[in-house]
Amino acid sequence: MATGGAGRGSRGFAAALLAGVAALAFAAGERGAEHLELAGGASGPVPFPHARHQEALGDCLLCHAVFPQRRGAIEELKANGTLVRRQVMNEQCTRCHRERKQEGKPAGPTACTTCHRKP
Ligand code: HEC
Ligand code: HEC
Ligand code: HEC
Repeated sequence: MATGGAGRGSRGFAAALLAGVAALAFAAGERGAEHLELAGGASGPVPFPHARHQEALGDCLLCHAVFPQRRGAIEELKANGTLVRRQVMNEQCTRCHRERKQEGKPAGPTACTTCHRKP
């Protein structure tokens, strides 16, 4: 009797654990990768701390109003002419960092080689 009870208990625990893991994986998937590496053409790739931006800014649409929540989206939109080269860099990344710096708020880099890393 006691053994059967323990068996049910551990099966219940395992099920709860699996449900928890599935929920975590789902949440992480919706928010995308914590770190991304963006293509930066001849200047070299651009490491991008995605999760830090989500935490610092809150509003997904600050960026995703311009390109969808999909890896490689910026390159696709540049290839089909929806975005011009350096548009995201100039109108989003660097603009926001420069404006926040001027306001004395935490910001990211504005110098070419702090964003672009030569391979
Ligand atoms: C500061 C800009 C910025 C903000 C704010 C932002 N993202 Fe992103 N996100 C990006 C960039 C850049 C990419 C990569 C696009 C590419 O590869 O072309 C991306 C990609 C993604 C992806 C696909 C990445 C993957 O791992 O498959 C998802 C999902 C995503 N974002 C969700 C979100 C959600 C949800 C929020 C708000 C909680 C958010 N993003 C806020 C810039 C941002
Ligand atoms: C805040 C980060 C950041 C800074 C600072 C920055 N870049 Fe970029 N750069 C990017 C990102 C992200 C992309 C890809 C998206 C785009 O093209 O808008 C990019 C794209 C590029 C491209 C490739 C465009 C293409 O499609 O071929 C070149 C070249 C470039 N940057 C040069 C520079 C130079 C030169 C500077 C300094 C004056 C600079 N970048 C500063 C983030 C940055
Ligand atoms: C709307 C504002 C905004 C936009 C758009 C934005 N950033 Fe930032 N960025 C920030 C803020 C705020 C921080 C500081 C976050 C912190 O301190 O945790 C930051 C920090 C960073 C850092 C980290 C610097 C360090 O100290 O390690 C990098 C790299 C960076 N941004 C790159 C980018 C790139 C590349 C893009 C464009 C794809 C981008 N950012 C778009 C606001 C922005």
